[in-house]
Amino acid sequence: MAALTLTQLGAALGVAADGIDLNRALDGETQAALRRALLDGLVLCIRGQSLTPQSYLAAMRGFGEPITQVRQASRHPEVPEIMILSSEDRDDAGDGKRLVVGAHWHSDDSYKAIPCSLTMLYGVEVPASGGDTQFVNMYAVYDDLPAETQRRLAPLRVVHKYDSSRKGTRVAALRPEEAKEVPDVVHPLVRTHPETGRKALYMNPNRMEAVAGAERGASDALLDALIRHATQQKYQYRHKWRRGDILIWDNRCTMHKANADYPKAARRLMHRIIVAGTVPA
Ligand code: SIN
Repeated sequence: MAALTLTQLGAALGVAADGIDLNRALDGETQAALRRALLDGLVLCIRGQSLTPQSYLAAMRGFGEPITQVRQASRHPEVPEIMILSSEDRDDAGDGKRLVVGAHWHSDDSYKAIPCSLTMLYGVEVPASGGDTQFVNMYAVYDDLPAETQRRLAPLRVVHKYDSSRKGTRVAALRPEEAKEVPDVVHPLVRTHPETGRKALYMNPNRMEAVAGAERGASDALLDALIRHATQQKYQYRHKWRRGDILIWDNRCTMHKANADYPKAARRLMHRIIVAGTVPA
């Protein structure tokens, strides 16, 4: 087993792994220890990596099956499973203006019938200050709800859409052929994690449209109240990036958001991979 050390990052979630070089194939014991750390910590930071796009993809295969992301213009030219996220991003299929991807609370891919399970973000270039990514522990958010509220939420399902009327920030426009891939979908509001068996509130404030079958005012009031509850500081971890960090998070039990609060001249370049998931249940 590699000289792996694990350190807790935040009180609510987050764990850092040091002593690993992902240029070398991991032995089974180390891979299993990282998976356990991710399932327990919800967000896993593997520090100090220096990888080509090809070796990054190869290493992430140890966590799941990489899948391509919807916006074709953001795909890495040599490794299409990698999406390039950059401080220079623009809404290329829309108005061409600067766009910060993921600047409002969300869970990746919830607008798909089968959302990805994990997201990996590799900090290729990070600003000296700012540009943090914030996370929320959605198990704790669910566990803290009164039993009566948990019972009331149990049967509810929510419509998720790529461009929701409730979104908190602009989302990138899609080309017509890309939009066809993402019709509206309905997901349970409470989901059971397929690996841990734990229940989590499954929300995406940027993509949820309405509670299925509910009157719009009542639906908005419920979703707003749940978002206020979920985004309390006590459920959060804020990741300050170091160059070479690979952050892996579990979208089945977390939400996250990017911050674009770094100076205009600073550069932030991330390589993003997502891996296949299962139908939320
Ligand atoms: C994302 O939402 O996938 C990106 C988060 C970030 O850039 O910090």
